[in-house]
Amino acid sequence: MEQDLELLQEATEEAEAAQDSRALYEVKMKFLGRTGKVTALLKGMKEIAAEARPAFGKKVNALREALEEKFAALEEKIKQKELEKKLAGEDIDVTMPGRHTKAGALHPVTRVKDKLIDLFSGMGFEVFEGPEIENDYYNFTALNTPADHPARDMQDTFYLTDEFLLRTQTSAGQIRVMEQKKPPIKILSPGRVFRSDDDATHSPMFHQMEGLVVDKGITLCDLQGMLDEFAKKMFSETSKTRLRPSYFPFTEPSVEVDVSCAACGGKGCSLCKGTGWIEVLGAGMVNRRVLENCGVDPDEYSGFAFGMGIERIAMLKYGINNIKLLTENDTRFLEQFKD
Ligand code: DAH
Repeated sequence: MEQDLELLQEATEEAEAAQDSRALYEVKMKFLGRTGKVTALLKGMKEIAAEARPAFGKKVNALREALEEKFAALEEKIKQKELEKKLAGEDIDVTMPGRHTKAGALHPVTRVKDKLIDLFSGMGFEVFEGPEIENDYYNFTALNTPADHPARDMQDTFYLTDEFLLRTQTSAGQIRVMEQKKPPIKILSPGRVFRSDDDATHSPMFHQMEGLVVDKGITLCDLQGMLDEFAKKMFSETSKTRLRPSYFPFTEPSVEVDVSCAACGGKGCSLCKGTGWIEVLGAGMVNRRVLENCGVDPDEYSGFAFGMGIERIAMLKYGINNIKLLTENDTRFLEQFKD
């Protein structure tokens, strides 16, 4: 039987050439597997004459054992080699500098929002958050801005249906609060608002902070006193405010509020376009019609309201010149706002 010797040689050569345990396993299967060459010899036994069978069987078994031993030895060797290679690759170099982990920081809009909440809570305001999807009534009609009112054009509205829209102003929250609560009312309503507007100082989504105070005997002086306090805490101890006449359908009288320019101290610079003042928010005395719409008697109660853009305050406070920086989330920009 020359065949078995040849097989032994062939298998040994192929096994020794195997580079890794996977290749070695394949060679092993080629000879000793269920359909392997040695197994085929055993299966062919029945074709051999009965008297020659025992001798043949012995030889094939010896061949199989020899091969099994050979494979086992090679397997051991390859596994050892593979382990050494793996361990070498896992070497820890304790002299390598560590990986830098970047610490997060609060977004400037969040910082300003938190600061506003902190500042106004100190004056007794409570936070109320209204829905971002509003209906036309809360966003406009109840705020004395019925369907044909020209003031609707002051804001480019995203309508979802004839009735529902993405709120254009947190002022909608004033109505919700007055419907739920009887005066005295002193609330602050922060949140996202949406308008079809897009340039260096306008973004289709931005944040506003609304304030509403309703009680007996509230006057415009109360509004200005509170705004002075706000400007000092938000911008600088020496900040001043001034009121300019304006128009909003839900306030009468309405004012635009300017704060003295913190960059030049009011002398006039490029930020304030030489005027010494920067416009920061809209405000006014709550219109009688709005109080009536909410079941509050305007002869008994009066109130003031104000609304400001949080991005605008953040841009002024931190000297940011493009509103897009606030939504792009570039970490090189954001990480400048760590304390
Ligand atoms: N809602 C106004 C706007 O988005 C801002 C505003 C003005 C709010 C006057 C007020 C207010 O509460 O009294 O332009």
